[in-house]
Amino acid sequence: MIVKSAEFIKSATKPDQYPNTGLPEIAFAGRSNVGKSSLINCVVNRKNLVKTSSTPGKTRLINFFNVNEELVFVDLPGYGYAKVSKQEKKKWGPMIETYLANRQTLTGVMLLMDLRRQPRDDEFLMAGWLSHYEIPGTIVLTKADKLKKQARQKQLQTIARDFDLPVDNFILFSSKTGMGKEAVMAVIDQLLVPAHGD
Ligand code: GTP
Ligand code: MG
Repeated sequence: MIVKSAEFIKSATKPDQYPNTGLPEIAFAGRSNVGKSSLINCVVNRKNLVKTSSTPGKTRLINFFNVNEELVFVDLPGYGYAKVSKQEKKKWGPMIETYLANRQTLTGVMLLMDLRRQPRDDEFLMAGWLSHYEIPGTIVLTKADKLKKQARQKQLQTIARDFDLPVDNFILFSSKTGMGKEAVMAVIDQLLVPAHGD
């Protein structure tokens, strides 16, 4: 995939607000502050297409972006941020699950997780939804620049073991250095190949 254009379409909280593009959609999910918005900016080669912030909980709505008039990137609100009000937290689960369950054009989800953390309930809940709704998912381990090479590999193995998946299933990523960008784009390309027999 070569990104030629990328533009914001709209924000939404519920299905009747989702844009009617008919284009295949790739969604980016993960805990608050994990680097979802930064990853999208990195992949589309734009510094500020998506607002990022060192204050977790920046993205509260489902944001849709048109890429090349060819596909749609979806920046999902982050979960698990303590300072978000209880009321807002209650809205998060249904907002995300409704999106995953109903979005016909959803082709794949990138589940982002900070490489320095261990997966917890939030990650397993997301991974569970993906398998329940039969949505192809890839786990991207972010902020890989924060660890040295050896620590990186060790942490990758620990996380892979927690998910009970081979290490090859994960992408080490850094929006700061661009590490893993090609791998993320390759997964997206793969997801966009029409299924055989369609
Ligand atoms: P919410 O919108 O709150 O859910 O957060 P988000 O997942 O969109 O995170 P965002 O992209 O806004 O990044 C959060 C903070 O982490 C920002 O200060 C980023 O600059 C920083 N950050 C994101 N990716 C990386 C990375 O790969 N390496 C480093 N060192 N910092 C990163
Ligand atoms: Mg964000």
